[in-house]
Amino acid sequence: MIQHEIKKIGIFSELTPDEFARLLPYIREQHIPKATELFHQDDPGDAMYLITRGGVRIYRYSSAGREITLALLRTGQFFGEMSLLDGMPRSANAMTTENTDFIILKRNDFLNVLKSSPGIAIKILKDMSVRVREADAMIEDLALLNVYERLIKYINGLIKTEGKKEGYYTVITGNIKRQDIANAIGSTRETVSRIFSAWQKKGYIKILPSRMLVYRDMSMNMGKK
Ligand code: CMP
Repeated sequence: MIQHEIKKIGIFSELTPDEFARLLPYIREQHIPKATELFHQDDPGDAMYLITRGGVRIYRYSSAGREITLALLRTGQFFGEMSLLDGMPRSANAMTTENTDFIILKRNDFLNVLKSSPGIAIKILKDMSVRVREADAMIEDLALLNVYERLIKYINGLIKTEGKKEGYYTVITGNIKRQDIANAIGSTRETVSRIFSAWQKKGYIKILPSRMLVYRDMSMNMGKK
């Protein structure tokens, strides 16, 4: 059973039987309910988390108390490795977005796994490189796009992953919370609400309970104030 769970984790997916045997004694499993804060920015780091089922949001607060979402992590991904590697405090906050199962590796166990399994160490470095690239893209968006353009990019992302064509509209289902969108694009709930109202008045989008309709030909015009 545990072998099956471990294989769900990207960095452990190609373990040799030998590596698996070395890893097994270090593994602790834990179930954590939705909306639990796992740790806070600036806490000391004592463990790394690997998600075997569920989701986690990584986020930071500004000094004015505004929140920005850095990443939404899913089954198969890991986090909490940075403070274990550099010995600094936690770089961000982490909260479960749903009931989530984890494998947890304590600091020394994590470091031992890295030392004894170069294959795992290389996979972690690869994932960390992907995250730096994503962070670079986020910095570029925050520095070079205005809030309208960031919101359009965010909605186009939703259209790509979840959109279904219905006549002249693309439909995005689910309860899309303005605060969550604001956190993802580095804005405020009020600003997102104001832009949505303007776009609704112009007929670019329609917001209904649990779904948003985006008028397809208009999505290019939404950035125009
Ligand atoms: P750590 O600093 O120990 O605790 C917070 C964790 O959030 C960090 O390790 C990383 O695993 C993760 N994290 C921090 N910044 C990002 C980011 N930009 N993208 C994805 N994950 C991140």
